[in-house]
This record gives sequence, C-alpha cells and structure tokens, in this order.
Amino acid sequence: MKKQITILSGAGISAESGISTFRDANGLWENHRIEDVATPEAFQRNPELVLEFYNLRRKQLYEVEPNAAHFAITQLQAQFDVQVITQNVDDLHERAGNENVLHLHGQLKQVRSTGYPQTVYDLEGWELRLGDTCENGHQLRPHIVWFGEEVPNLMVAAEIVSRADAVIIVGTSLNVYPAAGLYQYARPDTPIWIIDPKANELSYPDSITPINEKAGAALPRLVRSLLNGEIIL
Ligand code: OAD
Repeated sequence: MKKQITILSGAGISAESGISTFRDANGLWENHRIEDVATPEAFQRNPELVLEFYNLRRKQLYEVEPNAAHFAITQLQAQFDVQVITQNVDDLHERAGNENVLHLHGQLKQVRSTGYPQTVYDLEGWELRLGDTCENGHQLRPHIVWFGEEVPNLMVAAEIVSRADAVIIVGTSLNVYPAAGLYQYARPDTPIWIIDPKANELSYPDSITPINEKAGAALPRLVRSLLNGEIIL
C-alpha cells in the first residue's frame, strides 16, 4: 500500500503565482479590514463591498497559473497517496493536477444560496452581483468560510491527518484556527516539515523540521528526496 503524505497548504504556496498572502507586508489584511470584508456581519452591512472584494480575487484567478510547488505535489502522486488540505480558496492545486484536495475555507469559484446553504453552484465567470439569486430567489454569496463561521470539513481533515505517514506544512502563518492546529492530529513520530521563508518566526513544536525557503524551490526538492528514496518514510 502507498504511504500517505498530507500537505497542509496556505496562501504562501500560491504567492509565487502572484496571489497575495494575507499577513505579509502588502498582504490582503494590510489593505482591508477583516471585519469589513470577511465576516457574515460585513455581508449583512455592506454586501456590495464584500462581493466586490471576492469578485476582484476571483477575477485574478483567471490571470494566474499554478507554480512549481503545486506541480511538485502532482509528481509526488506517482508514488504516494497524497492528500492536500488547503486553507486556500484558489483553484491552483486542482489546475496543477493535484487529485485529492480538501478546501477548508471554501472556494472562490463557487457560490451558494443564502437561503439554502446546501445549494452550491459553480459560478460562470468572475462576477457575483447583488440580485444574483438561487432558483428559489435567495441572494447568492461567496462559498467562503468567513471569520466566525464553522469549518465544515474540519473533522474530515483531522481524520486525513491522523492517517498520514508524513505531513508537509507549506505557506501558512499558522494564525487561523482551527486549521492551524490540524497537524496536531498526526500520529506521534510522524515526520512533519514546515516550508516557509519565515518559518523561523512561526511558532510550532521543536519536533517539526523547518525549511526556511520559498515553496517553489523547497517543495520540489523535498519531493525529489521522497521520490528517489533519500528520505524514507
Ligand atoms: P498568511 O498570509 O497568514 O500566511 C502566509 C504564509 O506564507 C506566511 O507565513 C509567509 O511567510 C508564507 N509565504 C510567503 N511567501 C511564501 C512562499 N513563496 N513560499 C512559502 N511560504 C510563503 O496566510 P494563511 O496562513 O494561508 O482565511 O492564512 C490563513 C487564513 O487567514 C486564510 O485562509 C484566510 C486568512 O484570513 C479566511 O479568509 C477565512
């Protein structure tokens, strides 16, 4: 049976594709207040502003491409059961050919009914407007997990991590819970790497191996070592 490798990804894996992270200098949360654009209250108060924020981010998706880090994950699939758990709402993992991708915080290209939360659609194009409704006449909203909302895929994600033979954390500042705590579901002695140019500034247990580099260089190298048997799980 193939060994299972779980990738826990955040905004940093898409940075080299040209997508802004949240908490770096010039990141999204430096130019927008979370309370204005990423909470259910913000959507009630000023839906146009919230829709605009996500429309711009969705539009950008059509202008960017997956990078070497996303493609390295595809290569890893040749020998391992690779499970990606991402906080990202972009579709770059899928577009690079990553097969098992679980989105914790939703997906930009999906929208859902405010009246029937189970009614989820793939959005055509990049723009969701006030007045766009589900078939029952309820306004559609971004299919994004906002601050203060539950993370529906959390338990599925925890179960995946608990089965991992190795975990690679890449491009997340480990600031946002519950996602930031997921690696703790790994079995004791499971090797865990963290790839982040600021890994030395993040807080995590000593047992995790930091790689203080960008994902586009470090992840392909780690993948090569796993594929050629330099690292044995
Ligand atoms: P953050 O912006 O908090 O963290 C991004 C991390 O990526 C930082 O630690 C950077 O150092 C690192 N990074 C930057 N460039 C990198 C590169 N080329 N390679 C590798 N790492 C790099 O983003 P997240 O941790 O993903 O949630 O943020 C978590 C959640 O907070 C997001 O899903 C979003 C946000 O608010 C919601 O909107 C609900």
